[in-house]
Amino acid sequence: MKKQSFIIPVMILVVLVGLSSLTFFNNQPTEVRTVDMPDNVKAVVDTKCFGCHNVESTNDKAKDKLLWDKLDDLSKAEFVSALGSIEEVLDEDEMPPAKFLEKKPEMKLTADEKMVLRDWAVATAEKMME
Ligand code: HEC
Repeated sequence: MKKQSFIIPVMILVVLVGLSSLTFFNNQPTEVRTVDMPDNVKAVVDTKCFGCHNVESTNDKAKDKLLWDKLDDLSKAEFVSALGSIEEVLDEDEMPPAKFLEKKPEMKLTADEKMVLRDWAVATAEKMME
């Protein structure tokens, strides 16, 4: 009788520890992450970039290079690399493409928009590499 009353609490403890470690492992982040994009960044992307760089776009060249709606599917390395090329095209004033801007000059990034997007890309890449 004495022995049994000791075994039961121990068994309960073992089960509890087992359960909590299960949920602990289930909560570990995987490679897939939700891209954290503040509203002001999203607004720039939506109006000036998304049209060509999304899965439904008819611009195959743009789709090959970057899909804003599939950033979550990238591995960490691919995501950091995408952020790097975003920074690069902004520094070089390559996006939206000059040919496109000839027809739609209103789509050119303002200095503010460029800064918002660039700062986000740089800060996010730094956070990913911590
Ligand atoms: C009118 C369509 C269009 C818009 C709008 C547009 N892009 Fe692009 N983008 C393209 C095309 C086409 C390419 C492929 C260029 C090439 O391969 O020469 C590209 C390529 C890129 C690349 C890859 C560059 C490389 O060489 O790896 C990045 C990054 C990019 N765009 C970012 C952006 C950003 C940021 C915006 C918004 C500020 C934007 N794009 C808006 C059409 C567009």
